[in-house]
Amino acid sequence: MASGGLQEQLSSLEPKLARVLLAIADAVAEIAVVLRGSGHSEVGTANAFGDKQLQADVAADAVVLERLRQCGAVETASSEERPELVPLGGRGYSVAWDPLDGSSILAAGWAVGAIFGVWPGAQLLGRCGQEQSAAAYAVFGPRTILVLARPLTGAGGGGPRSCTVQEFVLGEPRGAGATWALARSDVRIGEKQVFAPANLRAAAEHEPYRRLVDAMVAERYTLRYSGGLVPDIHHILAKGGGVFVNPVLASAPAKLRVLYEVLPLAFVVEAAGGASTHDGRGSALRLAAGACDARSAVALGSPLQVDRACECMAPVD
Ligand code: F6P
Ligand code: MN
Repeated sequence: MASGGLQEQLSSLEPKLARVLLAIADAVAEIAVVLRGSGHSEVGTANAFGDKQLQADVAADAVVLERLRQCGAVETASSEERPELVPLGGRGYSVAWDPLDGSSILAAGWAVGAIFGVWPGAQLLGRCGQEQSAAAYAVFGPRTILVLARPLTGAGGGGPRSCTVQEFVLGEPRGAGATWALARSDVRIGEKQVFAPANLRAAAEHEPYRRLVDAMVAERYTLRYSGGLVPDIHHILAKGGGVFVNPVLASAPAKLRVLYEVLPLAFVVEAAGGASTHDGRGSALRLAAGACDARSAVALGSPLQVDRACECMAPVD
């Protein structure tokens, strides 16, 4: 059980929501152990989306499922590795997660992440991102970092603006008996000229995206792009600003999943005072996943930078 800093921080929450977030923290501490092991090679299977699976993907997913089952406060669970709705027998919340994002850069020793969205009740599909009670992500790099967007008190439901964002760092030992130290409270996103150009291949044919890239180069933006969604977003929270832009085109289609990636990360970013959009016309949190495999474009980060990216987020064929 995660202890110390984290448990104390969550004591003002509705008890079942606190249990879910503590279960997520425990799972993250265990995934940190999984990643130290040798499971970085392909297992020869693919998930339902056709992505090649690593032993670590499968192990990380099993860890999350088990922790959420044990906590007794999860009704429905769904993960990017196993995109179906699994009843967990608990009462209170439902959780969608991506247990290990960045499998393709793991072999290079780059930072990877996990993502979690928590909704009240039993439904995950058809719920817009705004309805999340809380969201979280973890970065597995030189340190293991857990970022929570959570209500100050109670069960949430007031959207991201009524949440606060906290950053915790995993101490030793990892896994069972792990401790989390609060590193930053009230994490905020301001304005910074930092650019993470995802799906850059789209710029070959997508004129608005090409113009945005050219403008940011001309204005000498700092480039920060690792190809790991979570570390790329966490960089924006760590530095206090910047923009992650992932437009899509028929010839460079969307990879990011609405339920497991876009909605939880948009919730964290907006809770920190940042902005999000999937269509250039408003917050990505208006979006609901109609199916487990729904995907979308997304821009996340500093409000003025996201505004600037809106032109290249409008749907195109
Ligand atoms: O989940 C897919 C992913 O690996 C993300 O981690 C990352 O943001 C994205 O793909 C990178 O895609 P691209 O190479 O097209 O920018
Ligand atoms: Mn992913």
